[in-house]
Amino acid sequence: MDILKEYKDFIDQKSLKVLRTEFKKKYILSQSFEEFYKFSKIKFDISSKINIEDDVIKIESIDNSKKLSSKKLSLLTNQIHLLSPWRIGPYKILDYTIESEWNSFYKFNRLKEFIPDLKNKIVADIGGNNGYFSFRLSKFNPKLIINAEPGPKNYFQFKLLQKFLKIENIVHEPVKAENFSIFNKFFDVIFCLGVIYHQRNPLLMLNECYKALNKNGIIILETIVYDNKEPIALCPKTYQKMRNVWFLPTPSCLKRWLEISNFEILKESTLFPTTFNEQHKTKDATFESLEDFLDKDNPRLTIEGYHAPKRYIVLAKKKVN
Ligand SMILES: C[S@@+](CC[C@H](N)C(=O)[O-])C[C@H]1O[C@@H](n2cnc3c(N)ncnc32)[C@H](O)[C@@H]1O
Repeated sequence: MDILKEYKDFIDQKSLKVLRTEFKKKYILSQSFEEFYKFSKIKFDISSKINIEDDVIKIESIDNSKKLSSKKLSLLTNQIHLLSPWRIGPYKILDYTIESEWNSFYKFNRLKEFIPDLKNKIVADIGGNNGYFSFRLSKFNPKLIINAEPGPKNYFQFKLLQKFLKIENIVHEPVKAENFSIFNKFFDVIFCLGVIYHQRNPLLMLNECYKALNKNGIIILETIVYDNKEPIALCPKTYQKMRNVWFLPTPSCLKRWLEISNFEILKESTLFPTTFNEQHKTKDATFESLEDFLDKDNPRLTIEGYHAPKRYIVLAKKKVN
């Protein structure tokens, strides 16, 4: 069922259809993702209890008579392994704990004081990855959450989790930040966490968010920042080995970008250094992580000699002229 049909007046349906079709053709139905697609069609008929309130999102079986067969259990663990790396989480599905690279509850806990009233609101989580933040936010009873994520593995991770979580008002859409104006004055709240430094044109993205927000719309931006008082941005060749960090704004630069984009700043955080407790290699995310991105002799610096990552949150409201 396409629950966005209900909102057709606020969505450029033609463009959404093009984006969905492209994503389906390029990934969902492509041979490289065949294994994931097949798995996404398997039914797991168990009675489960979900817990989205704690740091670890948990899915527990409640009816012993409906336990999964060992064949299905091994299909499930195999799929979890195939879908690694799990960047955000953690999750516990029955007896298996998915240890993600990021212990995302640190970010969620920092965000808590920035979360506005979400009851009956329409919410976007841009770059929502496998949905961890959308799932946690659903506790605040929003009407709808769109987990907007273009990464195919993240999509299949989201589908796997939703097989058990079954949270009906959270949907995945393969819409990139730079296409967000296909939603016209639609969202009450946009979360944009860990995305803006990956944007080649951050002002364009903010403008897209502006158009996608309704009259009283709120944006919550979370990002790594360049720790400096001036309203400037670092434009690194690589940052922590990442080749796609185009601009690292200072907090004052980010606020300036928001003002230029017609937002009013309502609240901001202090800076939070990333710790090894928050980001690290795990059995379900075995690639390089924070320990490989910092200077071995001086962990206050990245491998490139910039300061180690510090994160910042700002909340702003759409101004209407
Ligand atoms: C650094 S991760 C942040 C994940 C999560 N939001 C968090 O804060 O932990 C960036 C996410 O943005 C997604 N992404 C990449 N390009 C994007 C784009 N153009 N628009 C929206 N999301 C994008 C990536 O696939 C990835 O899931």
